[in-house]
This record gives sequence, structure tokens and C-alpha cells, in this order.
Amino acid sequence: MYSGKKIVFGVSGGIAIYKALDVISKLKKMNFEIDVIMTKHAQEFISPMTFQAMSGRMVASDMFNQWQSTSIEHIALAKKADVFCIVPATANIIGKIANGIADDMLTTTVLATEAPILIAPAMNSKMYENTIVQENMDKLKGLGMHFISPDDGRLACGDIGVGKLATPDDIVEAIIDIIDRKDELLGKNVLVTAGPTLERIDPVRFISNNSTGKMGYAIAKMAHRYGANVKLVSGPVNIDSPYGVSVEFIETSQEMYDKVMENFEWAEIIIKSAAVLDYKPKNFETEKIKKVDGDLSIAFGRTKDILFELGKIKGNKLLIGFAAETNNVVDNAKEKLIRKNADMIVANDVSNKAIGFKSDQNEVYFVMGEDYVEKIDIASKEEIAKEIIKKIVSMLK
Ligand SMILES: Cc1cc2nc3c(=O)[nH]c(=O)nc-3n(C[C@H](O)[C@H](O)[C@H](O)COP(=O)(O)O)c2cc1C
Repeated sequence: MYSGKKIVFGVSGGIAIYKALDVISKLKKMNFEIDVIMTKHAQEFISPMTFQAMSGRMVASDMFNQWQSTSIEHIALAKKADVFCIVPATANIIGKIANGIADDMLTTTVLATEAPILIAPAMNSKMYENTIVQENMDKLKGLGMHFISPDDGRLACGDIGVGKLATPDDIVEAIIDIIDRKDELLGKNVLVTAGPTLERIDPVRFISNNSTGKMGYAIAKMAHRYGANVKLVSGPVNIDSPYGVSVEFIETSQEMYDKVMENFEWAEIIIKSAAVLDYKPKNFETEKIKKVDGDLSIAFGRTKDILFELGKIKGNKLLIGFAAETNNVVDNAKEKLIRKNADMIVANDVSNKAIGFKSDQNEVYFVMGEDYVEKIDIASKEEIAKEIIKKIVSMLK
């Protein structure tokens, strides 16, 4: 997948170091070539042998023990990197880099590299919140270095707070994000909606639909990768938030409407992939509806048609809608395109179990006019998301 791409992987002496092995294992599976540089203190936690076995390459650590090689190792490593990451990054290593100190193999190579640098800090929350550490990080961010923020939670020392190393999946995602970074949507504000909405009938019952949010989350992730500022308004889903995207969760169709309208002015491109319920119970019963003999009828009223409302006010914003159909997919999408004043409808057939709602794959049609229909053959939702973003890029030109 990424063969030929080279990562120089710095490891410093923090307790979260064991998770770096997991990150390396995931990157290896994606065919990255990985050179590990360990600080002296990192080796107090885990031996270089383990990192050597995981990366499949010799670990660099001692600047002055290079007699086996004819090249100057830190310069060679600095030059070869497509991405340079430090996982975990101690307060110490961050402080040294921020002050131009180059007293070991890792810090010296960082100074010598022109590759994008990703830093994954991990430390006790008091250390992380310390103004000195914060100022050092701000300085490095100002110099264009990427940071993946630590999570909140229980720390190794027993304290609870911010400072836990980001998850290996998120770190891998952040590295891919840098490698695959494009700038075609740089600075554009993109609003994406995803997932289902949910309407409550009584305190214990609700109606919703089969949407998992996978398609919308993949679009948000891809838009970010193309350089956009992305806000995602999401219904209840069971998937991780995409790296670099700000997510706001809602439950009901009205909340989805309100959140979209709140962000309307900000957005230049709106991609409405959420499966918003068309109907909601007319009344919410504050007490649980008692089971009685015989049938139960519940009256449903219409929810707001968000795409239609956006179409009325869209001006020169780009408006992309989705159509989940079970029959006449393309014809229904053409009609929807005109009625909702959208620039494109992405239509798919949700009656096909191999694609659509719960699947990781999809097959869609881009409907942009009576005679303008493009079929995107079955592919992963990530690939479909990429095609959607590429189409948007071409629409902007
Ligand atoms: C058990 C133990 C755990 C540590 N965990 C961390 C940590 O998570 N984050 C951190 O910034 N420092 C941590 N330290 C302190 C660093 O190891 C220390 O600042 C060291 O000088 C870092 O060296 P390096 O940045 O060159 O690897 C820990 C120290 C010990 C003994």
C-alpha cells in the first residue's frame, strides 16, 4: 500500500513507549519502511532489540558508534524520511527540540530533517499542562510541526487527566494524513453531516434507521486530507471520530437542522450524507407507554427537510445531497437534484445488501443534471469518499 514510503520513527523515554510498538506493527502491515531512533532513556524502558525486531531494521541511537557505516547516519536518516514522527514524545524531548538542542541521535536528526514532523506527546497531566511545556509545543506548532494531542484518562501514575498517548490507530491515521496530504481544498470550510437521526417515542423507545455514519465519516476524513477545515455534524454512531475533524453530536432531526443552520454561514461546501428521519412521533410521551391488549397506533409528523431548506438559501455555496433509494435510483436522484436545488446528488441503492448502509463498500451514481450521471463502481467507502472529494475539487474549478 505504502511501499517505498519511509518513516523515521523517534522514540523517547516515556511509560507509553510500549504503544509505539503497536504503531510500528500497524505501519509495517501497510508496507512502510521504518527506521527507529531511540533516546538513551527510551532504552531504559524497552531494549532496542524489540524495536529492531518489529521494524525489521537496525535501531539507531548512538551518534558516536557509527564505524560500521560509511555515511553519517543522522544526516542519512534525516534525508530519507517522508515523515518523521516521535512516539511517545517526552516533555524533555519536546523542550530540547523547541530550544534547538541537538545532544543525541534523535534531536540531531530532527534538526537536520526537512520532512514533516509529527509529535505524539505523552506525560503526566501536570507536566503536560505546565506552561513551559505548553509554550514549547506552541513554538513547535508555530514552526509547522504537527501534534497529535494526548487523550484524557487514567495515567500510568494513577492520576486522571490529559496526557495519555493518543491511540495507535489515531497516530497511524495522523501519519497517513500527512503522507497523503493534498492541498486542493486548502482553507475551504466543509460541513459534513453523517449517521442517522433518532426520535424518541417515550423515555425508553425510539425510532431511527440503519445508517452507520461510515460514508459521512469517510467523506469528512477525506476532505480534511485534501486540506479543508472540516466540521462534522453526526447522529449517534459507533465509529471513531476522524482525525483532524471537529465533530458535534446530535440526536434528533431538529437538532441536526439547528446545528447545520448554525454552521451555514461558515460553510462553503455542504455535504449532507446523514440519513435524517423524514418522520417523527407527533407527541413524546413523558411516561413509558404501557403495554395493553391490542394494537398501538402512533401518529407521525414530518421532520424538516434540511437539504430542501439549504437549497433555498444556498447562494454560491456547493451543496451535495445523498439519495438512498430502493428503486429507480437514478431517476429519483435526478428529481431530487432539481427539487432540492443541489449541485450534486450521490445516489445509492440501499436494497442491495453488498453495498449501502451497513456495508464497508458502496456503489454510487453522481447525478449532476438530466444528462450528467456518472457511475462509481463498487469500492470501499473510503475510495468512494475520495471520488466525491475529487468531484467537488473539479466542480470548484
Ligand atoms: C517510570 C518512568 C516513567 C516516565 N514517563 C514519562 C512520560 O510518560 N513522559 C515524560 O515526558 N517523561 C517521563 N519520564 C521521565 C523521562 O524519562 C525523563 O524526563 C527522561 O530524561 C527523558 O529522556 P528522553 O526524552 O531523552 O527520552 C518517566 C520516567 C520514569 C522513570
